[in-house]
Amino acid sequence: MTTDNKTYDAPAHVTAIAPYQAGKPIEELAREFGLDPARIVKLASNENPLGIPESARQAMLKVAGGLGRYPDPNGFDLKSALSQRYNLPLEWLTLGNGSNDILELVALALLDEGTSAVYAQHSFAVYRLATQARGARHIMVPARDYGHDLDAMLAAIESDTRVVFIANPNNPTGTFQPAARIEAFLEQVQARHGNHVVVVLDEAYNEYLDPELRFDSTMWVKRFPNLVVSRTFSKAYGLAGLRVGFAAAQPGLTDILNRVRQPFNVNSLAQAAAIAALADMDFQARSYQVNREGKAQLCKAFDALGLKYVPSYGNFVLVRVGDAARINLELLKRGVIVRPVTGDGLPEFLRVSIGLPEENETFIAALKQILQS
Ligand SMILES: Cc1ncc(COP(=O)(O)O)c(C=O)c1O
Repeated sequence: MTTDNKTYDAPAHVTAIAPYQAGKPIEELAREFGLDPARIVKLASNENPLGIPESARQAMLKVAGGLGRYPDPNGFDLKSALSQRYNLPLEWLTLGNGSNDILELVALALLDEGTSAVYAQHSFAVYRLATQARGARHIMVPARDYGHDLDAMLAAIESDTRVVFIANPNNPTGTFQPAARIEAFLEQVQARHGNHVVVVLDEAYNEYLDPELRFDSTMWVKRFPNLVVSRTFSKAYGLAGLRVGFAAAQPGLTDILNRVRQPFNVNSLAQAAAIAALADMDFQARSYQVNREGKAQLCKAFDALGLKYVPSYGNFVLVRVGDAARINLELLKRGVIVRPVTGDGLPEFLRVSIGLPEENETFIAALKQILQS
């Protein structure tokens, strides 16, 4: 006998959750459409098209023999490397099983029934999921020009609000808020709400910013005790499959996150690979460059096809194609996986991760064929 989820006494706020829609795996598409997996192009999950850095591969091989033991629960070596890079003491750092884990830790530690979290429309789906899983209320603030409306978000904070999530750059729209605006927002939240409201500044795509736009947000945690800066090794560092990210926050807040963290949340391979990737400046520079050129390639093609897109600061572009469900299906038939974003309230758009030049070209050629047929 099999059962459905109504047979169990899960709380209503759990059964109400619409599960996260991940990008379709290559093998799944190959099975569904009888395609050769080697010819499939996946531009759906904002992964690094360069794959993992060779330095990280070598670092994993070195520690593979020790996998019979649990990983270091406190991630001393990785935290030490991060501490040097960001000039923060170890007690200000939290490691996560991907930065997704950091978002969950914040929700687990600070949200509960009777509290709320604020986030922007068309921002990262996990903010809603993590909030709902705690039985907390979510306050979704309408986007402005597909990005965060920080004034409206400030005004939306209520007396029971404990967390505000900000993605910068934002996924899936690719928008970016400059340093001065974020800083002003942090000043106002701290002035009005003190440490009652924690701001999570989720910077998963930070390393893709052009040098003139970059700013050292990790230094802000010294000024703002209610700030958590979250970063990941999944994107520019090329380690998405290993699941490793980190947060910077003041020791008191870090201590609270640590209380709800699984003891061995970051595995040994991930810790070793992240240390190597962090030191691999050459790989980071190549990731940035490939992304910059791929973005120009995609945007040029969209311009030529007369398609509107949201200028992107990440490693993906949100493009308006009209009947996105149909075009997505046609792309799948041609072995190209991109990301529909109807669940993010953007039914006319597709989100395309930036790939290698030849992958981008395969996508562009397929899209052109579909639009012109
Ligand atoms: C804005 C944002 N934050 C966090 C994440 C989580 O990434 P990870 O858990 O791989 O670090 C993603 C992944 O796509 C993202 O887009």
